[in-house]
Amino acid sequence: MVNASIETHEFDVVIIGAGGAGLRAAIESIDSGAKTAIVCKSLLGKAHTVMAEGGIAAALRNVWKEDSWQVHFRDTMRGGKMLNNWRMAQLHAQEAPDRVNELEEWGALFDRTKDGLILQRDFGGHKYARLAHVGDRTGLELIRTLQQKAVTTGAEVFMEVKIVELLHDENGAVSGALGFYRNNGSFVLFKAKSFILAAGGIGKSWKFTSNSWESTGDGHALALWAGADLIDMEFVQFHPTGMVWPLSVKGLLVTEGVRGDGGILKNSEGKRFMFEYIPQMFAAETADSEAEGDRWYEDKANNRRPPELLPRDEVARSINAEVKAGRGSPHGGVFLDIASRRSPEYIRRRLPSMYHQFKELADVDITVTPMEVGPTCHYAMGGVRVDPDTAKATVEGLYAAGEVAGGMHGSNRLGGNSLSDLVVFGRRAGLAAAQSALEKGSSKLSESLVEDALNRALKPLNNPEGENPYTIQHDLQETMQALVGIIRTESELVEAVEKLEEFKERVKGVGAKGGVKFNASWHTALDLNSMLTVSEACAKAALMRKESRGGHTRDDYPKADPEFGKTNHVVRLQGNDITVTPEPLPVMPDELASLFEGAAQPTGITESKEVK
Ligand code: FUM
Repeated sequence: MVNASIETHEFDVVIIGAGGAGLRAAIESIDSGAKTAIVCKSLLGKAHTVMAEGGIAAALRNVWKEDSWQVHFRDTMRGGKMLNNWRMAQLHAQEAPDRVNELEEWGALFDRTKDGLILQRDFGGHKYARLAHVGDRTGLELIRTLQQKAVTTGAEVFMEVKIVELLHDENGAVSGALGFYRNNGSFVLFKAKSFILAAGGIGKSWKFTSNSWESTGDGHALALWAGADLIDMEFVQFHPTGMVWPLSVKGLLVTEGVRGDGGILKNSEGKRFMFEYIPQMFAAETADSEAEGDRWYEDKANNRRPPELLPRDEVARSINAEVKAGRGSPHGGVFLDIASRRSPEYIRRRLPSMYHQFKELADVDITVTPMEVGPTCHYAMGGVRVDPDTAKATVEGLYAAGEVAGGMHGSNRLGGNSLSDLVVFGRRAGLAAAQSALEKGSSKLSESLVEDALNRALKPLNNPEGENPYTIQHDLQETMQALVGIIRTESELVEAVEKLEEFKERVKGVGAKGGVKFNASWHTALDLNSMLTVSEACAKAALMRKESRGGHTRDDYPKADPEFGKTNHVVRLQGNDITVTPEPLPVMPDELASLFEGAAQPTGITESKEVK
């Protein structure tokens, strides 16, 4: 028996992930009286949350008195092309202002209006300027604030721990998590009555991504392996503006705040091409001539928004189409120009990180020269299927919040809605997980389950002559980028599913040389399990959705199909098979459905422009 030698900890609530959702959940769980731990794969303070640079969306009404939770709710649903879980979108819009004010009380230093209120900036798909921000470092400030609060509230933190499996008790509830310290390779077992997944996204399965090394889909995969449902996995957001050059940093995020603060997109002919791509759904409130778009920046009272501030899916597809048509920039992107629109002082004050990022990495001064940008894999709309009010997954003892949870954003997330999602649903998950844990009796975790999981994790080390994990990782990323990318087709998706089957076979023979101490090959070999699981879920769900909607664009089905507008795709693990089943959307109550009258139809979006 190896169990006796495993470091073991017992808590009421264990949170896996230390981004915004995990930290906010910890604060609420501790406040509710639960003994709470945070376990994170990286160091505390490092999380993809920092890549939400431009702001946190909330109808605070500091800049536009006309704003309200109802308008925010409507924008979010329309941005997600009505596939969002309406109740999540409602709770999010209603509670985001309180969560932002709370962050301020806890020490977040937001930029200010002249009257000393929290300043709000424009972002794509939001009718009013509603993103509270700290220059272009909002995610970082949110992490800093929440981390300080969580640690001083009493969260115990276990850093650099990779969780490999969740374990069930005799009643089938999740009650254990086995992991290991990445530095010394020693195993650690967490026992708890509630587990909250807050492990972020899946972007590392694509070659060009804004995500850092941690985002290998661990949370999504742990949930699926533990028997929970995933939802909407076909919807992956390609943020329109990532760096395209130099190659070593291709994919690194260029905040939407550049466009929010006046930046415009141009092709190689110098044309402001976004005017060609305004979909009917947004036509009424989007400028359709350069003159109108320009006036908007000077005179926002007319609120005819420039087309650069359409939702991200529309902008990313348009950039892709321009490049495909041969009107791209030298390195395969388009030009993002703020230099000709704003003074150098304004740019350096509002966008300090972007200024430094381009100066240091590309030797480009963005106060003088346009940036070269193109779409980059940024965010998973799909994730663990949760109860909207409690964030509870479909398996007892398991909760999920933040990017790892699905439903909130439908087929496409609006920029700025992720930071608010983290704090709204992080808080709700922490509350519900703690309440449930405090009501539960103790349960038993079988030693043999722990031992089996541990042996599975050690397998690559027992096969030092096996295939190098980096080769498989490289091939997987190439495949997902080429075949399950921003534009998809039936034949490519079929090929992707076949290739993923081959990779699964290859992973059975993966090997890692050396011992357990900081062995990055071993870590990669284990990350591959999650990466393959989420990739397969995404490719299979994408294959089933024979339409274009939000982050999922099919070249062979370029229009939205009203029938597909009525269903979410639910992903389950049945035996060893990942299956996808369409299920009807939850029905929106009349009082919310009426908010769309005269604005957009609640179902069956058919007016998106065809991909050129
Ligand atoms: O562009 C950005 O600053 C990213 C924000 C987000 O993903 O919410």
